[in-house]
Amino acid sequence: MNNYITGSAIRALREKKGYTQKQLAERLLVSDKAVSKWESGRGLPDISLIEPLAKTLGISVAELLSGEYVQNRNRHGNMLKSRFYVCPVCGNVMFATGEGSFSCCGVQLPPLEPEEADESHEILLERTEDEHFMRVRHSMEKTHFISFLAFVTSDHVQFVKLYPEQNAEARFQLSGHGILYALCNRHGLFARKI
Ligand SMILES: [Fe+2]
Repeated sequence: MNNYITGSAIRALREKKGYTQKQLAERLLVSDKAVSKWESGRGLPDISLIEPLAKTLGISVAELLSGEYVQNRNRHGNMLKSRFYVCPVCGNVMFATGEGSFSCCGVQLPPLEPEEADESHEILLERTEDEHFMRVRHSMEKTHFISFLAFVTSDHVQFVKLYPEQNAEARFQLSGHGILYALCNRHGLFARKI
């Protein structure tokens, strides 16, 4: 059976926080020998310590247990650093204002890395008096289509889900500069700054 938490994860997180084993031990009301044992794999922290341990290390219990921790530097950042996560199994779309740890259908999802729109996913834009009309010249067949369009500015997100046979187009309210996104189910996420 796998350990529910690994010593190397505890050590890495403790060092990242700048704590010595003794300092971490004091915060958890355990001995520094206990911390040393956890880190060298000769012992496991009692389950009752998991919550205070995660809190002390500045991560969530889920991150601590999965051994995958994400340092979110976006606490006060703006939405232009937002990320999309799409489940490859069910197509669920998640939007986060920063990086995070997300899973769906049992799959850990990486953030989609947007590419600049290429010729076959060209993002076209017409500006009318009070809206942006966004269009992508792209097939909308069942097996290959644009599955959403979005417009993200520093404080707004506008999102339009699309389905095969529809037109790959959407209208967005004008709200300053931002990034237009189009997700192709085959080729990934494309972006255009406006
Ligand atoms: Fe495509």
